[in-house]
Amino acid sequence: MSELQDLYQELILDHNAHPRNVGVIDGCTHHAEGVNPLCGDTLKLFLDVKDGVIRDAKFQGAGCAISTASTSLMTQTLKGKTTAEATSVLAAFHALLTGDGGPPPNPELLGKLLAFAGVREYPSRVKCATLAWHTLDAALHHKGEPVSTE
Ligand code: FES
Repeated sequence: MSELQDLYQELILDHNAHPRNVGVIDGCTHHAEGVNPLCGDTLKLFLDVKDGVIRDAKFQGAGCAISTASTSLMTQTLKGKTTAEATSVLAAFHALLTGDGGPPPNPELLGKLLAFAGVREYPSRVKCATLAWHTLDAALHHKGEPVSTE
């Protein structure tokens, strides 16, 4: 395993053991609930958006290590970004994990999220990594119903 892969592994383990931004945002402007039907794990995401900028992002739930780490890193990444920038990161992350649709992975845009590149080799875990991002898409577009990774 390369040094970089080791670092990425460390990052995922750290964010699973110590997830950032866990909680609820009272009076949030955007929220959504997501579910991974393969395991039944659910996730609630809360955003505080003002003047098109995501000022805060928190979550509750999530399941396995990959899902928890992905959600934690996503909330860190979102803070301070415009909703348009968040949509670009979402598309880049999707492309990183699936290789289809959207723009090709953009290393500059993804930053630490590149840690999840290896998940692509494990199709059953891709939904774990993308659960948070499906939920983000729903939250940004005010979809009322819980969204699924299917
Ligand atoms: Fe449920 Fe990964 S096993 S989200």
